[in-house]
Amino acid sequence: MMNTRYVHGYSDREALRLNDQADTLDNIIHNDTIFSKDSLVLEAGCGVGAQTKIIAKKNPDSNFMSVDLSEDSISEAQKLIKALNINNVEFRQADIYNLPYKDETFDNVIICFVLEHLHNPKQALNELKRVLKNGGKIIAIEGDHGSAFFYPDSKYAHSAIDCLIQLQRQSGGNSNIGRELYPLLNSIGLSGISVSPRMVYVDASRPQLVEGFIKNTFTAMIEGVGEKVIKQGIVNRSNFKKGIKDLYRTAQPDGVFSYTFFKGYGTKN
Ligand SMILES: C[S@@+](CC[C@H](N)C(=O)[O-])C[C@H]1O[C@@H](n2cnc3c(N)ncnc32)[C@H](O)[C@@H]1O
Repeated sequence: MMNTRYVHGYSDREALRLNDQADTLDNIIHNDTIFSKDSLVLEAGCGVGAQTKIIAKKNPDSNFMSVDLSEDSISEAQKLIKALNINNVEFRQADIYNLPYKDETFDNVIICFVLEHLHNPKQALNELKRVLKNGGKIIAIEGDHGSAFFYPDSKYAHSAIDCLIQLQRQSGGNSNIGRELYPLLNSIGLSGISVSPRMVYVDASRPQLVEGFIKNTFTAMIEGVGEKVIKQGIVNRSNFKKGIKDLYRTAQPDGVFSYTFFKGYGTKN
């Protein structure tokens, strides 16, 4: 089954972008994604396995059940994990709103870059909480497009970013959900909630992030929705192209780019 509401779509280019994003951000967002030995972990919305391959390798003594709505993404993820000889992951097609698991099945749950796409993130989190054991943790990781700033500044670049925010809103999602993680985790009654900002700061002294983040993750994501937002009349082609050009401009030797992800932890008890 294909989830047509996913704004970035399910193309090969998007799969590549998700993998670039995960590899680039590994140390920033997963440095502390560590589960105790023998944990059974649900990864909700695993997509093509871009995070799966990182968290499963980091936690060789845990077992992962990774689910996604898209069967095509699941089969991509399966191929990737097999090619990498990772043996502690099982995949299953499932809807986060209606998980095929009994109450209190998992020791921990992780959900990364998915809540922003959902029309009812609170309902989804409640379903994740249902399948979590008492004492278990939910880890939620999200971006927030309102956190992007850069040099040289450009109104066209901001307006191109805003196009994705609007498109996401029209599909029932929220590109600025990072700032809402604390209230969301609080609203489902978790305890010991802690949210940490994970800033990605890029200038020419960090060439890997110039390629991996400015170009291949962030600008590729905005560029990827170009045809959709132009077709929907959210922006005209010429202004959108200027915005993309100005985003790439920040990857020049005198350019600077900053973006903040948010990682939240909360415990069920
Ligand atoms: C941006 S991708 C993130 C994938 C992966 N977590 C990563 O970070 O690379 C969002 C994923 O959420 C999945 N998704 C959206 N709604 C879902 C739902 N109701 N149930 C399960 N998966 C869903 C989409 O199919 C897509 O694979």
